[in-house]
Amino acid sequence: MFVTLEGPEGSGKTSQGDALGTVLSAYVPILLTREPGGTELGERVRDILLGFGGPALDPVTQLLLLSAARAQHVREVLRPAIAEGRSVLCVRYADSSRAYQGGGDGVAEAVIEAAIAIATDGLEPDLTIYLDLDPVVGLRRRAMAGTEGAQEGWNRFDARELAFHQRVREAYKRLARACPGRVVTVDADRPFEAVRADILEIVLSRIAVIVRGGAS
Ligand code: TMP
Repeated sequence: MFVTLEGPEGSGKTSQGDALGTVLSAYVPILLTREPGGTELGERVRDILLGFGGPALDPVTQLLLLSAARAQHVREVLRPAIAEGRSVLCVRYADSSRAYQGGGDGVAEAVIEAAIAIATDGLEPDLTIYLDLDPVVGLRRRAMAGTEGAQEGWNRFDARELAFHQRVREAYKRLARACPGRVVTVDADRPFEAVRADILEIVLSRIAVIVRGGAS
């Protein structure tokens, strides 16, 4: 099973991914990975895109860099893991390009979808958990986490204007409405444990459906 975790800044994707990965790894072999990242190229692209010292980048350039990293991730890591029978849990994937470069920065949908098609080679998640959160709350959490050193620090995307983050959230909501079979929305403006329990229930019930389908 290929599961992605999506959502705006500060929605808890990384910690929830870690928590879910820990529970699931007791039952099935799990690969926990992220985008941009998951390969050497992906981590370098991450540094270029997120670091304040990096060059100014047009949104289409960002899309192409993220897509190059995704193409490598799919071919070097995701497909081989799935072929070995491992379940994959990925923090951010193609929906982030739809939400950030598409919704946030207004890159045309046809351009976004063409880049996604090339990069993913048709590899789509079976399930996407969308952690929905008001960006005002999320950015406040991110700012606090940065000062506490609990996560990676404040980055170039975090620093974008509030209206950008609001457009990202609206794009995620549209995606969730457009793909109800794949994208499940979880309200992330609640205590960690409540969100964790919901995510676990959604993933376990999806596994049950797959197992039942396979048995019939
Ligand atoms: P994060 O891993 O801390 O969430 O940071 C990654 C940033 O990269 C986040 O602000 C969203 C951004 N991003 C895109 O804009 N498009 C993408 O396709 C991906 C994967 C990430």
